[in-house]
Amino acid sequence: MTDTNKTATLTLDGKTYELPVLSPTEGPDVIDIRKLYGQANVFTYDPGFTSTASCDSSITFIDGEEGVLLHRGYPISDLAGKSHYLEVCYLLLYGALPSAAELEDFETRVTRHTMVHEQMHRFFTGFRRDAHPMAIMTGVVGAMSAFYHDSTDISDPWQREVASIRMIAKMPTIAAMAYKYTIGQPFVYPRNDLDYASNFLRMCFAVPAEEYQVDPILSRAMDRIFTLHADHEQNASTSTVRLASSSGANPFACIAAGIACLWGPAHGGANQACLEMLREIGSVDKIPEYIARAKDKNDPFRLMGFGHRVYKNFDPRAKVMKESADEVLELLGVENNPTLQVAKELERQALEDDYFVSKKLFPNVDFYSGIILEAMGFPTAMFTPIFALSRTVGWISQWKEMIEDPQMKIGRPRQLYTGASERPYVDVENR
Ligand code: SDX
Repeated sequence: MTDTNKTATLTLDGKTYELPVLSPTEGPDVIDIRKLYGQANVFTYDPGFTSTASCDSSITFIDGEEGVLLHRGYPISDLAGKSHYLEVCYLLLYGALPSAAELEDFETRVTRHTMVHEQMHRFFTGFRRDAHPMAIMTGVVGAMSAFYHDSTDISDPWQREVASIRMIAKMPTIAAMAYKYTIGQPFVYPRNDLDYASNFLRMCFAVPAEEYQVDPILSRAMDRIFTLHADHEQNASTSTVRLASSSGANPFACIAAGIACLWGPAHGGANQACLEMLREIGSVDKIPEYIARAKDKNDPFRLMGFGHRVYKNFDPRAKVMKESADEVLELLGVENNPTLQVAKELERQALEDDYFVSKKLFPNVDFYSGIILEAMGFPTAMFTPIFALSRTVGWISQWKEMIEDPQMKIGRPRQLYTGASERPYVDVENR
């Protein structure tokens, strides 16, 4: 962020205010309103933050009009095609692609933190067996504050580093345990001889009664899904983590807040909602009915997996996900998957419909991900936990960036008050 010699002029009640304009590396200029209230005694108003930059960040950049997504300057298509998730984690956390030695050291550190405290196993038994895995993850990750006291002091750089590695390393184990718990199978411990994605697949699908061989096709697809969900600027759950962390709360509690926010169907819960929608549509001949419903202002139904606050063009992650869906389903011999056929026809019809074209509603990251995850053997309830697992590195990287920013202060928005002005209390007998 650089100061420019440009200013924005605001005229209000006959007075003129010059507001500094800041220039980013990429994207629109920013009007710095930090002194506005002190100078003009007014707030700005932007529910949903459609035009508000909440922070400066150097981690991820999105150009919604052009359908561009960069992580530390590298296009998502390059990272999804040429990199792998733990290398992307290193990039997001430390700002540069690692050397071979740095990558090996990082992967070893993550691998050696994949087990959870043995006493946490008992924590799971407090949940009903039919609990949603996201409910379990929200609770268990929050409870990490009670198990890892030696990495909760955010003022200690070493503890911040350990907490970061622990979160990235343990989320697959916790997600797999949440899944195993809900299906009544025993927990499967992580293995240090497996890569990150293979470890997760084995912890989800292995049973003590027989050996589980990880299919390299599935682990490559899994790793790519992790990469595609890793970070995405100041989305709702990342903003939740930043706001919670701004009070100085420990990272585990703040990540739990992010998981809770991600669960919503307008955000990370959309992948589960999208697959359920595609199943409800059921066949291509029912598509026009559902498109009509999505366009009907009196019908709360929306096309899940469509639309985005920032992308007003194709979500670049959806493009990679769609290619991956074709590849994985063909390799698994389910290329005629009816859900995939419905998804492709729904996309085709929606993108020819003026309602979606005029409102710039395109498939987002959640539109195809569920189809791949279902083909890989995951139940819909595990779709958002996998999104949360993938996004943990984004939450942690943004948390780390904020905590290390000397300008950091507690987040405390103001409001447009529409309630009663001051009035005298009336005793109950006189009301
Ligand atoms: C994610 O922020 C991120 O970066 C999120 C994410 C990430 O990686 O972190 O990318 C992940 O959350 C992706 C989005 C997943 N959610 C869904 O797929 C749910 C369906 N999508 C919608 O709920 C909606 O598109 C949002 C929530 C994603 C975006 O909401 P906005 O920007 O507030 O859009 P809007 O509600 O202002 O909609 C603009 C117009 C409205 O019509 P008008 O009032 O202008 O007449 O488009 C319509 C909406 O009714 N619209 C839709 C629609 N999405 C928007 N109409 C039908 N179907 C849809 N999906």
